[in-house]
Amino acid sequence: MKDKKLRLGILGLGEGRSTISAALSSPKVELVKMCDLNIDVCKQRAKEFDFHDYTTKYEDLLNDASIEAIAIYTPDHLHASHIKLALQHDKHVVCTKPLIDDLKDAAELIEIQKKTGKKLFVGQSSRFFQPMKRQRMDFEDGLIGDLVTVEAYYNADHRWFLEKPWALEDSFKWLYGGLSHPVDFIRWYLPEVEEVMGYGMLSENGKKGGLKNYDTMQFIYKSKDGRIARVGGAYSGPVQPVQRDSEMSCILRGNLGCSQGDYMDLRYAITDKDGEERMITWEHKLKHFFRFEGKSHHAGEYENYLNYFADSIQKDFTAYPDLIEGIGTIVLLKAMERSLASGKPEKTSKIIQEFGLEEYLQ
Ligand SMILES: NC(=O)c1ccc[n+]([C@@H]2O[C@H](COP(=O)([O-])OP(=O)(O)OC[C@H]3O[C@@H](n4cnc5c(N)ncnc54)[C@H](O)[C@@H]3O)[C@@H](O)[C@H]2O)c1
Repeated sequence: MKDKKLRLGILGLGEGRSTISAALSSPKVELVKMCDLNIDVCKQRAKEFDFHDYTTKYEDLLNDASIEAIAIYTPDHLHASHIKLALQHDKHVVCTKPLIDDLKDAAELIEIQKKTGKKLFVGQSSRFFQPMKRQRMDFEDGLIGDLVTVEAYYNADHRWFLEKPWALEDSFKWLYGGLSHPVDFIRWYLPEVEEVMGYGMLSENGKKGGLKNYDTMQFIYKSKDGRIARVGGAYSGPVQPVQRDSEMSCILRGNLGCSQGDYMDLRYAITDKDGEERMITWEHKLKHFFRFEGKSHHAGEYENYLNYFADSIQKDFTAYPDLIEGIGTIVLLKAMERSLASGKPEKTSKIIQEFGLEEYLQ
């Protein structure tokens, strides 16, 4: 049927709250059931959205034959096992970032996906924000010419996040939880990074909050074709006023022009190939992107990506980032982690080999 809606189940209702809102307002998605281990969270969301089909058992989503796709928003270290179960139960999958935080399951996930033929899409929200969509379109239209270098960053005062119990576990790393956003920008424009070098530290604020791993990091990258890029992030201290600087930003420097997408601020600026300078904002889209308190959530981006994913199933094309592209980003994050430990440049090819991914990734 042509205009059939994608029947969706949502797992994890913290940030999954944005996905509930996105699914309920999307013309292409039908929310069937939502799930959280914590019954109080289920009840809170049911009341907030007046949507009462919830469960505390993941099996209830997995065994519901009417659910075609599962959207996963559980803590980072649980994504691999939750994805595996969804694929094994013949469901398409949307998984939030970071796709996984360890490569030990990567080859198995690829094999399971191949066997089941189901689609997996990484909910890499930052690509689906208006300024970043516009930046990509202008880049593809040749407005800045050939890309020379990329600079991306994501800094945020995320001390509030440390109230979540899993944020203080050894397994939680801002490297994966935070830098996966700007690192995805690097891979979007320079997919073939072969080497990375970086430094990191755990700040006094982070230590005080109980964090176990680095909260402050800077990296530089070299691509196979010689082009270079850089990424940075700091997560336990105040940030600049939004009029002066964005929390998350991507700068593309081309041979003919330059552009910058500012994430939360719905702001984009370009000096194009004809020497024209433009600054664009989307005030009228504020209500699409931000629906609850302030700008602390991602409902608008999620609706954009759910629509794209639903189209990919309806029209049978691949929605990107897919599993292979997503694992490529985790390979790069792993090389970054190695560089933090060794204090030396690290090659992505070494990581690919170590985790037996040569036949899947170049
Ligand atoms: N921009 C973005 O894309 C974005 C933004 C925020 C968070 N996230 C991602 O969303 C994920 C969740 O983060 P959060 O901030 O919502 O954390 P959270 O702790 O607030 O919520 C996670 C929820 O998952 C539930 N849960 C845990 N194990 C479960 C299980 N086995 N079955 C069912 N429910 C289970 C918990 O009870 C909790 O309510 C993380 O991977 C995070 O990186 C993405």
